[in-house]
Amino acid sequence: MPGILLGDEFPNFEADTTIGKIRFHDFLGNSWGILFSHPRDFTPVCTTELACAARYTEQFKKRGVKMIALSIDSVEDHRNWSKDVMAFNSDADTALPFPIIADHNRKLSVDLGMLDPDELDKDGMPLTARCVFVIGPDKKLKLSILYPATTGRNFDELLRVIDSLQLTAQKKVATPVDWKPGDKVMVIPSLSDAEAASLFPNGVTTKELPSGKKYLRYTQP
Ligand code: BEZ
Repeated sequence: MPGILLGDEFPNFEADTTIGKIRFHDFLGNSWGILFSHPRDFTPVCTTELACAARYTEQFKKRGVKMIALSIDSVEDHRNWSKDVMAFNSDADTALPFPIIADHNRKLSVDLGMLDPDELDKDGMPLTARCVFVIGPDKKLKLSILYPATTGRNFDELLRVIDSLQLTAQKKVATPVDWKPGDKVMVIPSLSDAEAASLFPNGVTTKELPSGKKYLRYTQP
């Protein structure tokens, strides 16, 4: 089965991109990384997505996350389409602030399980789906999401999950539904009450439940 699982080391592939040939691990350096694929250049939903990603560049930078996009089109197409993307943002004089990988032989898309069997090009070959990989500074996969070509992603949600990933990489907490930075978090179940009390000086509150089990423990990180 092609694909990559949480905790796997992300492949150190070589690829042609709009900034030249890269080796992925060298490109990432010691940073976090986000790799997002899209089905095709010069298509409407993809244009709105990459334009949004470009507008959010400072937000990713603030979090120390290097951005890179990917589709099966050529570097030349990527460069030409990038101008449309920035014009869509009414920012035609600025270059797209992150590179795009040209996976023209679909090797990466196959190896990483990114193809959408329901979306075919004019030759009947599958296009890339809307895949997102977040990679940690240790080069391991921390998060993946996979949307079909017909559903655009939400980049506010991507920033939210990166905030959660970065917080939970440092502290023994988990973020509840719809969590936002600044909200309370949950103490992870593997931590004893004594360990939680010593790790969280802001205190731990436990919600009473009909089961009597004390697993809903909140703290302010
Ligand atoms: C789009 O980006 O608009 C798109 C691309 C492929 C299939 C469907 C939509």
